[in-house]
Amino acid sequence: MKFSKDFLFGAASASYQVEGAWNEDGKGVSNWDVFSKIPGKTFEGTNGDIAVDHYHRYKEDIKLMAEMGLESYRFSISWPRIIPNGDGKVNDKGIEFYNSIIDECLKYGIVPFVTLYHWDLPQVLEEDGGWTNKKTVDAFVRYANVCFKAFGDRVKHWITFNETIVFCSLGYLAGAHPPGIINDPKKYFQSTHNVFLAHARTLKDYKKLKQFGEIGITHVFSPAFSVNEKEENKFAAYHANEFGLSWYYDPILLGSYPEYVLKIIEEKGWTPQWTDEEIEDIKEAASLNDFIGLNYYQPQRVIKNTEPIENASRDRESSTGAAGSPSFDGVYSTVKMEDKKYTKWGWEISPEGFLEGLRILRKRYGDIKIYITENGLGDEDPIIDGEIMDVPRIKYIEEHLKAVKTAIKEGIHIKGYYAWSVIDLLSWLNGFKKQYGFIYVDHKDNLNRKKKLSFYWYKHIIKTRGEDL
Ligand code: NOJ
Repeated sequence: MKFSKDFLFGAASASYQVEGAWNEDGKGVSNWDVFSKIPGKTFEGTNGDIAVDHYHRYKEDIKLMAEMGLESYRFSISWPRIIPNGDGKVNDKGIEFYNSIIDECLKYGIVPFVTLYHWDLPQVLEEDGGWTNKKTVDAFVRYANVCFKAFGDRVKHWITFNETIVFCSLGYLAGAHPPGIINDPKKYFQSTHNVFLAHARTLKDYKKLKQFGEIGITHVFSPAFSVNEKEENKFAAYHANEFGLSWYYDPILLGSYPEYVLKIIEEKGWTPQWTDEEIEDIKEAASLNDFIGLNYYQPQRVIKNTEPIENASRDRESSTGAAGSPSFDGVYSTVKMEDKKYTKWGWEISPEGFLEGLRILRKRYGDIKIYITENGLGDEDPIIDGEIMDVPRIKYIEEHLKAVKTAIKEGIHIKGYYAWSVIDLLSWLNGFKKQYGFIYVDHKDNLNRKKKLSFYWYKHIIKTRGEDL
């Protein structure tokens, strides 16, 4: 089987992780510009001041993407580049920059797939309560409208938010992302609701503009599985999926929150502040999603937790996804299993979990259109005789693309696959050590770009539409 002609083979990036130019051409300061400079927050104090300098080298980068045969480039817009203080004056230079990126993509026939929010919030808004403040909701909707009006004639694929669970839970529970707050479930749930509301209102506005593009949201897709058949562990996995999956997917796709979670957060006093009108907006917007974007890296293996909650590890490794600590509410723990394979950063490699998860998703939400908006392997790539031999990455993507193929054969409606990432970039907390790209960036030699083995491999896959997989 070949992937159909309208299936998009792509790769992704995010503004903060690639652009650099953090204070150039009128860009405002983002929460990450500030947070990454607090001592101890990131690996060796790395930050996005320069990142991989995509801001100045985008032409070269997009040319390489075209050479690879990439059909679509998923990138994000930096909100503070467009509206430096979050809610005030629009920065023309920011608009100009993304116009150039979009036009450069279109020059080569590469479809721009744009994320409006990939975590870099204008610092002014962060200081005013960030996503816990409804003002951020209004400011986001305005920012989104500015983008639709500026770019919507050429951009026909929009993602509102990237991985709400990550920036909200690491921001308000683990304290590993801005604003760095530890263990505040009340704020955590409030922030998630405010994001869903911003998403809903943005969708309503977008449809009114009649630009006839597609719009959706990208969620983490990390289905939880019990480690065995024991009832207590099966319940732990159920609970993990209700809090980690249903809480995020239900309001978007069904227009309501899951009863199971609502009941528990009510008892604990964590229910967000919301109005009937907000709940109504979320309900109405459910039918306006054109697709759901899934970022899949690994499943979760879950057991009933027996440790004290204080052990909910908040160190960098576990907060970026490695298994081995109790959930914030102490109900379950994620664990590493003897018979599974893991990356150097302790992430399980499981194309089977991917496929199984997709089946579960279809059962719950029906035949919604899906884009795999991220999937890839974080590794330290071996360099042999000057060549970047990222064989494990090829293997990883190959296995996951095979899972996508099987899913499509089963009738699951997947319309595109975006490898993370198109180019080696800054990992939020892990610096430049953790590589994901098809294109290598030499930090010892002027950030020069070099094609990896996977570059040629992906080019072949795209050219042959995955026939050999
Ligand atoms: C998901 C995030 O969207 C992306 O920014 C990050 O770098 C990758 N996961 C890898 O951790």
